[in-house]
Amino acid sequence: MSLDPQKIRADFPILHQQVNGKPLVYLDNGATSQKPRAVIDALVRYYERDNSNVHRGLHALSMRATDGYEGARARVAKFINAADPAEVIFTRGTTESINVVARSWGHAHLKPGDVVLTTEFEHHSNLIPWQQAARAAGATLKFVPLLGVDGEGGPDLAALDTLLTPQVKLFAFTHVSNTLGTINPVAEFCRRARAVGAVTVIDAAQSIGHMPFDVQQIGCDFVAFSGHKMCGPTGIGVLYGRRALLEKLAPDETGGGIVVSVTYQDATWKPAPERFEAGTPNVADAIALGTACDYLDAVGREAIAAHDDQLARYAMDKLSALPGIRIIGPRAGSPRSGLVSFAFEHVHAHDVVTFANEDGIALRGGHHCNQPLMRKLGLASTSRASFYLYNTEEEIDRLAKSLERILKFFAG
Ligand code: ALA
Repeated sequence: MSLDPQKIRADFPILHQQVNGKPLVYLDNGATSQKPRAVIDALVRYYERDNSNVHRGLHALSMRATDGYEGARARVAKFINAADPAEVIFTRGTTESINVVARSWGHAHLKPGDVVLTTEFEHHSNLIPWQQAARAAGATLKFVPLLGVDGEGGPDLAALDTLLTPQVKLFAFTHVSNTLGTINPVAEFCRRARAVGAVTVIDAAQSIGHMPFDVQQIGCDFVAFSGHKMCGPTGIGVLYGRRALLEKLAPDETGGGIVVSVTYQDATWKPAPERFEAGTPNVADAIALGTACDYLDAVGREAIAAHDDQLARYAMDKLSALPGIRIIGPRAGSPRSGLVSFAFEHVHAHDVVTFANEDGIALRGGHHCNQPLMRKLGLASTSRASFYLYNTEEEIDRLAKSLERILKFFAG
């Protein structure tokens, strides 16, 4: 199964514009993806026809909004093959989802002497919440090392075996590194963590809209992801949690909508997912996220993964030929997601991004919320091109040409 990016581009209105007099080349999908017309229409339709509060009203609009919201939950559950829609909690995004686990689960389960394990190449969102949770509990934070001077060796699997002791209560790791492009063997990580009784948390922000993702097959306990990186709106995300674990957790945020009974002194909680969704939820964006799931499944996530892979290989080939380039992450030929991070010794990433913008090309430059990793690699920053289903090889040719121009300018 393959996809036709030209056909797909017709679904994305934003791509059909000029930037600095050149057709836009959008290669910043790791930061956020663009939205197909169907998702934009779902938002407009909701606000034009159905807007109302959910779970509270008995009038027609409230019932329609509630049906839409709960329908979106069921749609997301199907997207990740959750056993039960109640395992899908809507949040603002990956960051909030991880914080919910760190606060709720961390508060309930972590104690002095425990270990929280993560990797050396996590986004700050999957690092700082664990620093906070470990510190609050008197637990220790440990890291699976990254192998290779450019991080090309991926996680050290031999070290993982040594690190996974019965003291490890939780293992949190990314599926796809937003900086390296490394694809972690998440099912294998979960299998090994389970063997020592550790709970697993997957940061799926960079993978969920790019490849098949089946929570039951992977065997994970918690998964965090954002709508906006998978063709959905900003401000909506998901925390998947295994039901048995969610039912034992108290909410980390409290208020209306999550209670069975309240007295002046106390309150009792509804079951998951309501227990974790205090206040009026983000109904419109949840519904549009359901539409994004429909869109991605209609294209096919296998096909998207194959397309990403093809573009990553093409980019590795093209960019490797540039003088003085240092590409970090998996080497050409090894699996990598659809993103390539690179650095030039004498040109700062911010200059690369600024010059590329003159050519109508959107890249990201900086530390990518990965400061400890940058320090480990001896870099201050990288430039990053990240691809998605609507990108083409011609766009990568334009990137390579633009980088040649930049190198010439700074050489001269
Ligand atoms: N986490 C997003 C990125 O990698 C913002 O760009």
